[in-house]
Amino acid sequence: MTRILIVDDKEENLYYLQVLLTGYGYVVESAHQGAEGLAKARQTPPDIIISDLLMPIMDGYTLLRQWKSDERLRNIPFVVYTATYTAPEDEELAMSLGADAFLIKPLEPEEFIARIRLVEADIAKARPQTLRQVQGNEDATLQQYSKVLVRKLEQKSLQLEAANRALQEINTRLETLVGQANIAILVHHDFKPVMANGELARMLGYGSVDEVLGLQDCRVLFADEERERISTFNKNRLSGAGSPGFYAVKGKKADGTVIEMENRVFPIQWGEHLSVCAMLTDVTDQRKMEEQLRQAQRLEAVGQMTGGIAHDFNNLLTVILGNSEILAEGVSANQDLHNLAEMIRKAAERGAEMTCRLLAFSRRQALDPKAVDINGLVSGVDGLLRRAVGGQVELEIRLGKDAGAVLIDAVQLENALLNLSVNARDALPDGGKLTIETKNLQLDQAYVADQPDVTPGMYTLISVSDTGTGMDEKTRLHAFEPFFTTKDFGKGSGLGLSMVYGFVKQSKGFVRICSELGHGTTVELYLPRLGRDAATDNVPRHVKSTPVGSEKILVVEDDELVRTQVMVLLASLGYDVTGATNGAEALETLKSIGDFDLLFTDVVMPGGINGPQLADRAHKLYPGLAVLFTSGYTDTAIVQDGSPNSNVHMLNKPYRRQELAAKIRTVLGR
Ligand SMILES: Nc1ncnc2c1ncn2[C@@H]1O[C@H](COP(=O)(O)OP(=O)(O)OP(=O)(O)O)[C@@H](O)[C@H]1O
Ligand SMILES: [Mg+2]
Repeated sequence: MTRILIVDDKEENLYYLQVLLTGYGYVVESAHQGAEGLAKARQTPPDIIISDLLMPIMDGYTLLRQWKSDERLRNIPFVVYTATYTAPEDEELAMSLGADAFLIKPLEPEEFIARIRLVEADIAKARPQTLRQVQGNEDATLQQYSKVLVRKLEQKSLQLEAANRALQEINTRLETLVGQANIAILVHHDFKPVMANGELARMLGYGSVDEVLGLQDCRVLFADEERERISTFNKNRLSGAGSPGFYAVKGKKADGTVIEMENRVFPIQWGEHLSVCAMLTDVTDQRKMEEQLRQAQRLEAVGQMTGGIAHDFNNLLTVILGNSEILAEGVSANQDLHNLAEMIRKAAERGAEMTCRLLAFSRRQALDPKAVDINGLVSGVDGLLRRAVGGQVELEIRLGKDAGAVLIDAVQLENALLNLSVNARDALPDGGKLTIETKNLQLDQAYVADQPDVTPGMYTLISVSDTGTGMDEKTRLHAFEPFFTTKDFGKGSGLGLSMVYGFVKQSKGFVRICSELGHGTTVELYLPRLGRDAATDNVPRHVKSTPVGSEKILVVEDDELVRTQVMVLLASLGYDVTGATNGAEALETLKSIGDFDLLFTDVVMPGGINGPQLADRAHKLYPGLAVLFTSGYTDTAIVQDGSPNSNVHMLNKPYRRQELAAKIRTVLGR
């Protein structure tokens, strides 16, 4: 088996020849430069040596000279295999120094092997191995040797220069690309930034890349609550324990604003250190839009469901209502049975009211849209809203010039404003400010691009803002859902915003809630605006046949929704309405405001004072005050027992608008 020693400073050349020669059955040894090759050969002489020329420490010519002057080695064939800037003189010099073959890279494998076989055949022929006469004298050889070497080195340095230039150009190109990329890039070693691009500085609100590079710890670029997670990821990533290569993370801008980001992370060798590269994108807007879309879809689904249920329930309730009325009449001779039948009827009526609200949410209520001048409508409910929110809350109404007209059901819109104002009042337990603002605005394609449920066009915006408690994220996301409430049992039904949402959507508009915990809430109603000269049919929209009035009425009702409804109803009839949630509050109001014409109160109320008791105390203060009781569930007997005053009347819940209007005129005696 022929043993071959290969000497080459390039690892890949060594590897290639090793594989090739081993494949042809040779036994291969290798060395990285002349001195190493010589030492190995002296220890175990090979059968053939194949050497490169230009190598560090000891080049191929020197190795060849030493080889040929070594007693033990000079008869072993020396093959020169070189490529670097080979000129005819190189070969001449090598041959004159005693080389047995001079091969120029690259050679086809077969050709290379064939040439090696030739050299081998020479050995087999046992050709007398005499030291070939070096041509010329020693000096001349040396001279030629240094010339060849210098030329090779010069060419090498030229090549290095060219390679350097090419590298520099690549570097500049990469720097430009990274600098212009619209993805933020950060490389850090143990959180000390070592590289950042312009997009990173811009995205996180830093004045320049240098400002970012000046940070001692780049964890300040992430929200406080993320630091621990990021530190653990980093440790695991570098120790090879593994950590996610892509994840969502909150970023913190220079001014403290928190943004949503996506982070692609991977380890990267940076100089001497294994560092980490993070590629970050700001996905705040995208997230917001996805959330909006999800919310809209959720509400759509809930709407579909509640709408279906409410519709079916309405049908059932109609049957129950109709039959209970017939039943009540049929058993009128038996007072007990008659009362039971009446109770069924009233419960069914109440159920019907509830389904009405659900129908409003699911956009299936019967609306009566008319062209309405928004500023006129808002000014019209000013008094009502002021009384609804109470004296602790300052109400400011800012009417935008030219807010315009909208095709809308005015009663429902008033109802919506009242609901929103009551919500604001509840969010302002210690008082504060409520602002209702109107303005017109044009939403263009760019604005609606990231709003899944909005079409571009002219809108009238009514915004209702308070300086109250605000909502947390969860509340804000669920506020429109029916029955979602954060209020105590019995205080809120969670249908207020659902009705507003459904009504506005049904009117081809949309609603937005902007709220920050501790800072307040703004609910914006965007209503599609009518053309400039739409004839408006504004409030009040009194039905001709319905008796109206302008007296002052105090409504006492613990059920928020019922109270809201009654107040809207009375206001639409022209009355000056104030609300109170229980007896104690009503007495306070009576004492502070005084000159009411009518007390309209529920019979059964929590808080220690029921309707009749309230009427009693009110009469002590104002003997002439007219009282109208209302009740859903109690026997009218209580009223008679509780109050002997002839000026006392009863209206059963639920009542129709017409019934209420007529009853009030009767009670007021006009
Ligand atoms: N202006 C606001 N400020 C703070 N939170 C609000 C505001 N408006 C609504 N919310 C929150 O949204 C929830 C839902 O409001 P919504 O009006 O639908 O129901 P509710 O007020 O709880 O009950 P209801 O209106 O049926 O009496 C409230 O319980 C409250 O947590
Ligand atoms: Mg509410």
